[in-house]
Amino acid sequence: MAKKPLRIGLIGYGFMGRAHSNAYAKVGHFFDSEHECVLQAVCARDEAKVKDFAARWGYQSIETDWRQLVARPDIDLIDIAVPNNLHAEIALAAAKAGKMILCEKPLAMNPLEAEKMVEAIEAANVPNMVWYNYRRCPAVTLAKQLIDEGRLGRIFHYRAKFLQDWTINPELPQGGAGLWRLDAAAAGSGVTGDLLAHCIDTALWLNGPIHSVTAMTETFIKERKHNASGKVEKVGIDDACAFLARFDNGSLATFESTRYARGHKALYTFEINGENASISWDLHDLHRLQYFDHRDQGLVRGWRNIHVSDGDQPYLKNWWVPGLQIGYEHSFVHQVADFLKGLDTGTPARPNFRDGLATDYVVDAVLNSARSSQWVDVKHA
Ligand SMILES: NC(=O)c1ccc[n+]([C@@H]2O[C@H](COP(=O)([O-])OP(=O)(O)OC[C@H]3O[C@@H](n4cnc5c(N)ncnc54)[C@H](O)[C@@H]3O)[C@@H](O)[C@H]2O)c1
Repeated sequence: MAKKPLRIGLIGYGFMGRAHSNAYAKVGHFFDSEHECVLQAVCARDEAKVKDFAARWGYQSIETDWRQLVARPDIDLIDIAVPNNLHAEIALAAAKAGKMILCEKPLAMNPLEAEKMVEAIEAANVPNMVWYNYRRCPAVTLAKQLIDEGRLGRIFHYRAKFLQDWTINPELPQGGAGLWRLDAAAAGSGVTGDLLAHCIDTALWLNGPIHSVTAMTETFIKERKHNASGKVEKVGIDDACAFLARFDNGSLATFESTRYARGHKALYTFEINGENASISWDLHDLHRLQYFDHRDQGLVRGWRNIHVSDGDQPYLKNWWVPGLQIGYEHSFVHQVADFLKGLDTGTPARPNFRDGLATDYVVDAVLNSARSSQWVDVKHA
């Protein structure tokens, strides 16, 4: 049977533009769907570079203005892979044009923008998703399965951190290509919206809604040259953030993130402690899940180091043979596979825009708490 084409218009060809393009290219080789991804057009401002990108990745056409892309009738889905300050404007226009939308995280710069995006996408009633890809690392999906099966029992503790070390040099400028994350006007916030947003999304998925938070943030380097103005300007982002949280289910949590942890590149870890069992995961070793079950016979009780590569485990029957691992890029392939399955079955994949808003509410409460030094209740989406 001929497959239904899903004509993709990608905006942005940076880190995520490549990760998404790779996923669209691979998904049909490994996962069945009635739909087929068609790389219809890619858009970015530099014509020569966007042409090169299109040629390398197999996009059939290019645009240099995202508005032209959104207006094209031969595009079914807009993929937003540009800095955070552009997400809302593009998503509102794409929803108005009736396009499906896959949007990078964090959904928006602040909850006000995110609420407008949710309103627009729900009014347009088009399929939508936010690229919180870590949900789809098989070991993380397996953690979700174990929790949903009730193996952990009542959950007492959730502990997450995301550590990097790439902004320690005070000579590093802010703003522009590759460095927009250091510019509050483009990023919205620092590690809270960039890195902790991932930890928060996973936590909400695994452990349910967060009730309240208390936080501290720090900006270690207060001024940096701005690439746009050429002048030394105040740094508006948080370089580091730590917060405590209470979940609705009564469990307590700690979250920490920084770009000043020398030696750590992308150390995203979480650990969950329940009355019967504990789970822990580490992005640097992403195909493994650590699992301790107190109900095991005492003689052999201990932490199991599960090499998540067996066909019984999430997503893996679609890949190689047991024992052979997959990696980072596959989380994006899985996200596209689930999105397509959602189109096939009519049960949309998540996280959708409303889930993205839930994470933005937590980010906002964390930043408010850091400013006020008070506990802040989290709005639920
Ligand atoms: N899911 C994840 O794990 C993950 C990882 C990295 C980044 N992100 C998110 O993805 C988004 C992009 O991040 P990145 O790391 O790919 O950034 P990047 O700097 O590598 O790429 C950004 C791209 O946006 C393009 N761009 C900027 N302004 C534009 C405009 N006006 N019109 C068209 N194109 C424009 C740039 O040319 C570039 O191609 C951000 O929202 C970021 O938070 C998510």
